[in-house]
Amino acid sequence: MMTSEQITLIRDSFAHLHRRKAETAALFYDRLFAIAPDTRALFKGDLTAQGVKLMETLTVAIATLNDREGLTILLDRLGRRHKGYRVEDRHYAEARGALLWTLRQSLGPACTPAVERAWQELYDYIAGIMMMAGRKA
Ligand code: HEM
Repeated sequence: MMTSEQITLIRDSFAHLHRRKAETAALFYDRLFAIAPDTRALFKGDLTAQGVKLMETLTVAIATLNDREGLTILLDRLGRRHKGYRVEDRHYAEARGALLWTLRQSLGPACTPAVERAWQELYDYIAGIMMMAGRKA
């Protein structure tokens, strides 16, 4: 469970990433495809548009961290759709690595251990609900 300090750290660092939305998303996908090349074939559509959607979902998740019920419903549906995209549990682990790498690249020295830990918590929370929904789907 995230503390209110962690939510603040996420919001502040995300503001920086969001200003460079397309660039951050591109960094993330480049890294993901470098460490997990087999995930490339899962993506059928335009990656720029996809990257923007990913950032938007993170925005919604961050904005609604205080409304866990609404967020859980959204992530449950998203996780079921990901099962349909053939996303497996190991892909979530690979994407976690790519996301944390992207944060370090993009935030530089602002990516303190506390900031990184806050993002790990957020990702594990989101991915945990999505993976569970995938198993039910
Ligand atoms: C925090 C975890 C994740 C979030 C928030 C997220 C978010 C999204 C969003 C918002 C979409 C747009 C379509 C929709 O809403 O159904 C999408 C599509 C997709 N995602 Fe994710 N995703 C996550 C993890 C992953 C992982 C781990 C993979 C696999 C490596 C993945 C692969 C895909 C694919 C293949 C699509 C369909 C796009 C296409 O066909 O081009 N996602 N994701």
